[in-house]
Amino acid sequence: MQAITNLLYIISVVLLIYGLRRLSSPASAHSGNFIAAIGMGLAILTTLLVPLENGSDNYLFILTAIAIGSAIGLVYARKVQMTAMPELVSLFNGFGGACAVAISAIELSKYQQLIADSVNVGIAHHLVTYMALLIGGVTFIGSLIAYGKLAGKISTFAIPGSSFINIGLLIVLLGLILYQLIFTDASFVFPASVLVLSFIYGFTFVQPIGGADMPVVISLLNAFTGVAAAFAGIIYDNEVMLVGGILVGSSGTILTALMCKAMNRSLFNVIVGGFGGSAAASKTDAEQVVKETNAYDVAVMIRYARKVMIIPGYGMAVAQAQKACKELDDLLSEKGVEVKYAIHPVAGRMPGHMNVLLAEVDVPYPSLLDLDDANESLNSTDVCIVVGANDVVNSSALDDPASPIYGMPILELRRAKRTIILKRSMNTGYSGIQNPLFFHEKTLMLFGDAKKSIEELIREVKALD
Ligand code: TAP
Repeated sequence: MQAITNLLYIISVVLLIYGLRRLSSPASAHSGNFIAAIGMGLAILTTLLVPLENGSDNYLFILTAIAIGSAIGLVYARKVQMTAMPELVSLFNGFGGACAVAISAIELSKYQQLIADSVNVGIAHHLVTYMALLIGGVTFIGSLIAYGKLAGKISTFAIPGSSFINIGLLIVLLGLILYQLIFTDASFVFPASVLVLSFIYGFTFVQPIGGADMPVVISLLNAFTGVAAAFAGIIYDNEVMLVGGILVGSSGTILTALMCKAMNRSLFNVIVGGFGGSAAASKTDAEQVVKETNAYDVAVMIRYARKVMIIPGYGMAVAQAQKACKELDDLLSEKGVEVKYAIHPVAGRMPGHMNVLLAEVDVPYPSLLDLDDANESLNSTDVCIVVGANDVVNSSALDDPASPIYGMPILELRRAKRTIILKRSMNTGYSGIQNPLFFHEKTLMLFGDAKKSIEELIREVKALD
């Protein structure tokens, strides 16, 4: 039985790794996701064999828990709007942390019993279990706060001295764990204190981080979930959980490094500095006015342009304008206009958000330009169409040292000859900072829902012939 279980675990691990490998290209990502899902399904089924091996009669509890969890997951995932996907991912991430907390709390209660009975507890397993509790607790509460912020249910506020509080909490937490490993106290106060303090740390760590820095925190919490799962794999001596945790932990860490690069921040700055903050609006001269345009004028510009660049942002997801973008792209391409898409790494509300939406409507991958290539290409672009993007094109990141996003690499639209902004109002984006690009001499505003505006553009371009 043990040999069969191990073999099935190895197959699951191979499927997970192969699936993940295929996720690295949009062309193979769909099948990669499917293969990884089969790997995960096989890992779950194999794990269900383990109690059988041990002669357990817990199947009623296990299957009931799976049925309840699956039913909630299924209903929620089917009901959720595409725009609420990032919140859902954060929530799922938090549940990963909660699992690590549950597993380690159960194991620690057993250890406390062993300590009370003067049985020696292996120091390595004891340490790993406390680390799973600590990281799981931080991830659970941190992800719930991130969920609340993404859903607009929690607003960012600074916690005075949060960097000192965080460093202090970490020292106390590690000190408590060290003390317990050395002196092995049978009191439940130790595990309970680590749990409560890790919850508090999750709050003080994520709460002050605001504005444009949220992507870094989200990918970091994702990496934490992986590390907590890997620790849980060590606790249960379960290879597939260990490998799964390592995969999530390492890919989350790589993503965090990429996000830091995209925001031009050091990880330490984000964690300790509580960057971004709440609505630290950048100064815009009260007398500055925006220039409004209409669909006909824009249609003429893009119809007779040589190169058009579409810049999607969160508003494209809200308006579900991706299909209309592709239609406009096809129409212009037929008429000999070169159309490309500029993708900022933190556009939208989750990593790869824009890529997913554009892949959904079959925009070919070579048409998507990353930040550096897009900025290069903007020098020779005639018209930029900004579809519900704001922070990722905010020129105060280049010009205003007082701006909370100063130094963040952006799509530099002033390089192009003309920029058309499609949005509904003069409202700010996620970071709450006004965008001086909207007042620039080369910029024109086309107000309205992005999908409706693009559909109007399509009609006007067709009418030109
Ligand atoms: P944002 O800066 O959030 O701007 C989106 C704009 O879309 C808003 O200004 C809004 O203006 C407009 N909009 C909303 N609904 C619209 C509709 N139906 N039609 C037309 N326009 C609409 O988006 P961005 O430029 O993509 O930047 C992303 C931001 O989110 C960054 O600050 C990033 O750090 C943050 N963030 C990203 C992530 C990841 S991982 N990508 C995660 C968390 C946070 P109106 O209301 O005036 O229409």
